[in-house]
Amino acid sequence: MHCEYFVAGQCRSCADLLIPYSQQLMNKQQHLLSLLSTLNHRRPFAVELPVASATRGFRNKAKMVVQGTVEQPILGIIDNHQAIDLTACALYPAAFEQAFSHIQQFIRQAKLQPYDVQTRQGELKYVLLTSNGDGWLLRFVLRSQHHLAAIKKYLGDWQQQWPALEVCSVNIQPEHKAILEGEKEFILTAQTKLCHRLNDVNLYVQPQSFFQTNTQVAAALYQTARTWAAELHVTQVWDLFCGVGGFALHLASPSRQVTGIEISAPAIACASQSAQELGVHIDFRALDADAFAKAASHGPELLVVNPPRRGLGVSLCTQIELLKPKFLLYSSCNPETMHQDLLRLSHYQLTKVQLFDMFPHTAHAEVLCLLAREAN
Ligand SMILES: C[S@@+](CC[C@H](N)C(=O)[O-])C[C@H]1O[C@@H](n2cnc3c(N)ncnc32)[C@H](O)[C@@H]1O
Repeated sequence: MHCEYFVAGQCRSCADLLIPYSQQLMNKQQHLLSLLSTLNHRRPFAVELPVASATRGFRNKAKMVVQGTVEQPILGIIDNHQAIDLTACALYPAAFEQAFSHIQQFIRQAKLQPYDVQTRQGELKYVLLTSNGDGWLLRFVLRSQHHLAAIKKYLGDWQQQWPALEVCSVNIQPEHKAILEGEKEFILTAQTKLCHRLNDVNLYVQPQSFFQTNTQVAAALYQTARTWAAELHVTQVWDLFCGVGGFALHLASPSRQVTGIEISAPAIACASQSAQELGVHIDFRALDADAFAKAASHGPELLVVNPPRRGLGVSLCTQIELLKPKFLLYSSCNPETMHQDLLRLSHYQLTKVQLFDMFPHTAHAEVLCLLAREAN
């Protein structure tokens, strides 16, 4: 993929851009297999071919720092104290450019002065934009509530100019720190969630709930989990770190009891709406995964885990060893921490692994592993 920003040295987010894509995939697969080779295997495990991504236009979400002025807002990144306009970044589908131009127009209309990190002046820090291919979810991250009334005032006009803007919110991040968002969120539109259709499941995203950034590869990941789980003939499933329910909803069936655990209450509200629409019963609960596992007297037959980059950690791995689920499906965006966890889960034998390339042009990889418990 050719990228003017990369050539000009203005953006290095895609650090592996000069490596041909097939080679990028091979490098990631080799790195993964070399990590897994240090596990104490009793039996060989199946290695599936990596699932490739589109090499451009694959990101459904943009996080833009806002710089410049009210009249000429710049959406992009700050590099060496300099604002770089990234509105033509090829990682986003083409429709993002038009969306960015709507947003720049809104900034001018509501007089949202970009926040200047040096002088600590201004209000608008970031815009966070998500697309489902048709509709949009837009979040303004502001320093204070000062411009909330102005945004509310213009929102009706904006939705007339841009009818595909389904959800709009304001997040308040008062601190002078490189934190993306704060706790306070005001959803200003009647519609509060954006629907993404993945396979035969509607997944809902609302501000402050995690959603995978590569929709096409995420759909393949959930579908693969469903296929692998079907071969296990299990009736009780837990999905820990379930987010808006991607795994749980794909694994639901009338003959299975499925529980989904996630710390974010907005994400659980989204997951519950999907389950209701699908007509399946899933016990979704907004809880800490570690606390939930510790309080349980017995485990499920199949445990699905998809933790943040930090992995499961010692405490949760110890609890999994005590609860003894027959099978583990571990989905990870950080093969290093997953590897550490698999070393801790010493009673589990790796049976199958597959790499899902959610993040082309970087060294990051999503991995799905199936493990089976060996005798006690
Ligand atoms: C990598 S995301 C996976 C989400 C989901 N499985 C998916 O496919 O979209 C990790 C999720 O873990 C949640 N999380 C973080 N810490 C948690 C905790 N202590 N207990 C439960 N969930 C947690 C995050 O809010 C996030 O939704």
